[in-house]
Amino acid sequence: MTSSDAPPLPRRVRALLAELRDRAMVCDLYSQAGSGVYHDLSLTDTQEVRELVGLVRGLPGPVLDLAAGSGRLTLPMLALGREVTALDLSEGLLVLLKERLAQAHRRFAERCSVVHADMRDFSLGQRFGVVVLGTSSISLLDEKGRDALYCAVRTHLLPQGRFLLSTLDLHAPPEQEEAEFVFTGGSGRTYRFFERRAPGEGRRVVAILPEETEEPLTVFTTTVAVLPADQLETELAAHGFALRSRTPLGDQKGRHQEVLLEAEVAT
Ligand SMILES: C[S@@+](CC[C@H](N)C(=O)[O-])C[C@H]1O[C@@H](n2cnc3c(N)ncnc32)[C@H](O)[C@@H]1O
Repeated sequence: MTSSDAPPLPRRVRALLAELRDRAMVCDLYSQAGSGVYHDLSLTDTQEVRELVGLVRGLPGPVLDLAAGSGRLTLPMLALGREVTALDLSEGLLVLLKERLAQAHRRFAERCSVVHADMRDFSLGQRFGVVVLGTSSISLLDEKGRDALYCAVRTHLLPQGRFLLSTLDLHAPPEQEEAEFVFTGGSGRTYRFFERRAPGEGRRVVAILPEETEEPLTVFTTTVAVLPADQLETELAAHGFALRSRTPLGDQKGRHQEVLLEAEVAT
């Protein structure tokens, strides 16, 4: 979640906000107001969903989907016939997940537990064959938060259980500190994406502006840590996890490279 010490927004967004003054506002992407926008963006298919679900298919036991949001990964994992616990901190996104479960096949909802909790501090009284933390959601946590997450994941894994998590390796050189592009959500609605990252800051600020909105304009923001796969591998080892596999996803030409990590508790 966006913290109060969030770094500055991208230049173009700051200029827009200065121009519009009280005809624009800034909102956290994972707030109640941002839930619909995040959900729309999450409806676009990605290779990560296919890879993650493919890995889960081959692993036994119930599944814990951390930072599940509106269920982009939860629903395909339920479709595998698995018991899934979906945990998230955003009430708005969990409402959307429950609506999707209500519309899905009755057996999906029967096999899904929805939990409103913080992934840094949860106690479910159950162990899982697979814990999933997709969509680079680990980058929403600072170092202290990641320490707490790794401990909570360890105590919720069955022996030989797997922790599957994804992250982004950044490719763009430092002179491309800011980037802007247009993205189409699952509804067909378009969004302008602005990204800012400063060399050495270790964080990226993302601002999303739905196109064709009436005033007041809302800019949805999130700040994420830059967590290269190498760094996560080191952190996982320090918390008693051994890496089983590391899979780059998609083409390697873009500004980012998604990487999927599979870890288990070291013996
Ligand atoms: C990038 S989204 C991923 C959502 C979903 N897994 C998907 O693939 O669409 C990040 C999610 O992390 C959730 N989140 C942020 N901080 C959290 C925390 N401390 N504990 C649990 N969930 C959190 C947000 O509410 C949001 O749903």
